[in-house]
Amino acid sequence: MSNILLIGNGAREHALAEAITRSPQKPQLFSFMKSNNPGIASLSVKIMPGSYSDLVAITEFAEQNKIEFAVIGPEDPLNNGVVDALAKINILSVGPTKSLARLETSKSFTRNLVSKYNIPGNPRFKVFTAIDGVEMFLNELEGIVLKPDGLTGGKGVQVQGDHFETKRDALKLCKQILAGGSSLVIEEKFDGEEFSLQCLCDGKTVIGTPLVQDHKRRFEGDKGPNTGGMGSYSLPDHSMPFLKPKDLQDGLEITRQVAAALWKETGNPYRGVMYGGFIATKDGVKLLEYNARFGDPEAMNILPLLKTDFVEVCRHIIGGTLDKIKIEFENKATVCKYIVPKGYGLPADYPDAASSKARIEVGEVGKARLYFSSVDQKEDGLYLSSSRAIGIVGIADDLTEARKIAEEGVNSVKGPVAYRADIGTDALIQKRIDHMRKIRKD
Ligand code: GLY
Repeated sequence: MSNILLIGNGAREHALAEAITRSPQKPQLFSFMKSNNPGIASLSVKIMPGSYSDLVAITEFAEQNKIEFAVIGPEDPLNNGVVDALAKINILSVGPTKSLARLETSKSFTRNLVSKYNIPGNPRFKVFTAIDGVEMFLNELEGIVLKPDGLTGGKGVQVQGDHFETKRDALKLCKQILAGGSSLVIEEKFDGEEFSLQCLCDGKTVIGTPLVQDHKRRFEGDKGPNTGGMGSYSLPDHSMPFLKPKDLQDGLEITRQVAAALWKETGNPYRGVMYGGFIATKDGVKLLEYNARFGDPEAMNILPLLKTDFVEVCRHIIGGTLDKIKIEFENKATVCKYIVPKGYGLPADYPDAASSKARIEVGEVGKARLYFSSVDQKEDGLYLSSSRAIGIVGIADDLTEARKIAEEGVNSVKGPVAYRADIGTDALIQKRIDHMRKIRKD
């Protein structure tokens, strides 16, 4: 019997825990979590609370429990070097080393890598460590994106038109970012539709999983502040209705070239997930960013559809033999809707912010699947924290049915919560299709 270590405490890791434990090999799951996730705990033979920077605690937990391999969910432990620390005690991981995780943790590293190896997909960009030259470059761009060069929990990127309006505003923000000690990537803004392409990679072989579209904005109609992601959908054909087949091929090809460049640049194979945030534009597919892990919520769209034994998939990632396994996903639609506290993602003085520690009740969820994120299981029930609470997923033969199932699950949750009703609706998807037709002049 094999013992597998899972690091992470969110809904993405709950979906990973489910994928691991439904393996016919009946592995035993050992989970290291920053805060207790009742869903992961219920699937684990043993849990260990602790900080993702406490590499001693993590490696001791792994050694004591004779772990065969580890699966790393979030970016923080990758950035802290957990994969390197585990490798020192001969435990390999699904997840990149600290150096390779720069794919996500350093925006400038990835932009420079893509340029250096002449890989398509980059915008016009420049990296700044001081304000000299910033104003001149801002004046050269039509639309502007500002990225602090480090981990920002998906919320640090500032986009013209969304977060600021004028070049003067942009300059002020650049000064603030640089004064905070971070270097800064300034990029040209793209117009188009975004999609998430989560790829499995063993260093040389890159395998795409079904495409997903996430919804980052807090409110319906893609309004309000950016969040970690309010929900997502995927379709039975594993593509997106606003894409051409070439768009997916281009996203995969960029990722293959980036994997090869990473190996050449660092001397080590990237073994884990390369999640490309891409955007389809009038000039083809462009790269917004890479994440060095599964997406949250996107993991909840694809892992439940995986027909192949996930434990075997992990072994092939770690062993560098992904070319030897056929990885299959069910041809189903999925809709994930995040239940969040009403105050989630809003300024602290927002009227509902105080409701975030309230108790919630989960009733009959029908066919929906629940993936717990930031909830506290107390003796008298489940409590919200300040972050996303539960990912509720509907899976069906078509999107309408998947959305209905997710809605039924959402409606079973009682308490001071919010969610986006528009995710997975025909109206929102038609808006995406129309937008792409307009910019492509189809
Ligand atoms: N869905 C956004 C992320 O996982 O970063």
